[in-house]
Amino acid sequence: MSLERATHGARHVAIIMDGNGRWAKKRHLPRAVGHQRGVEAVRTLVRAAREMGLEALTLYAFSTENWRRSEDEVSTLMGLLKRYIQEDLAEFVANNVRLRIIGDYTVLARDIVALLDEALAKTAANDGTTLVVALNYGAQDEIARAAAKAAAKGAITPEAIEAELDTAGLPPLDLLIRTSGEVRLSNFLLWQAAYAEMIFTDVLWPDFKPAHLAEALEEFSRRERRYGGR
Ligand code: IPE
Ligand code: IPE
Ligand code: MG
Repeated sequence: MSLERATHGARHVAIIMDGNGRWAKKRHLPRAVGHQRGVEAVRTLVRAAREMGLEALTLYAFSTENWRRSEDEVSTLMGLLKRYIQEDLAEFVANNVRLRIIGDYTVLARDIVALLDEALAKTAANDGTTLVVALNYGAQDEIARAAAKAAAKGAITPEAIEAELDTAGLPPLDLLIRTSGEVRLSNFLLWQAAYAEMIFTDVLWPDFKPAHLAEALEEFSRRERRYGGR
């Protein structure tokens, strides 16, 4: 299958990876196990996105609101993030994957910030798939920061704000997927989703396979995007 056909013309897909806790609960396992299995789903999906030639895959990993969770759960999530980057960085480098972070990651623990800076630097010249990880990300925070920067430079126009968003330079968002049956955006990519197609699936994130992405892209290809015109 040609790459173009694999992605059905979509350049940028974003995913709200939800349902790790419910996946674990169904199996009477600790939430941490759900998060671990969630990382496995990430690893597999990033490989698939690269193989199908997707330009950008944006994954919601930790929101500005997720600090409301227990200290224990936050530290589990941060530990898993650290391990994932440590374990997969060499693979990103070898496979031309560029890492990008959206959200203010500089407030995370110092060792994680250092690791992320290293990973960003080592993959900066890659021009294959861009893996965008949303960390301490909230769209309202992003838009407020972008508007402040635009104002400091001149007029606050949509174009000026867009140029200051954390996602500046990425292809426009084509498809937004949320797993686990919740039908809400939870402060994710509010600006970028203006004309994105959306797919909500009941599949819990640890069960989300490349075949589910392929299915979503097929559904995407059947949507008629009109952007307000006719
Ligand atoms: C998504 O799974 C992972 C993060 C938000 C980091 P959840 O932890 O939100 O899982 P549920 O929604 O409780 O099932
Ligand atoms: C959204 O999921 C955040 C991430 C997937 C990182 P949540 O589980 O935090 O969202 P709500 O609380 O159900 O809206
Ligand atoms: Mg959730």
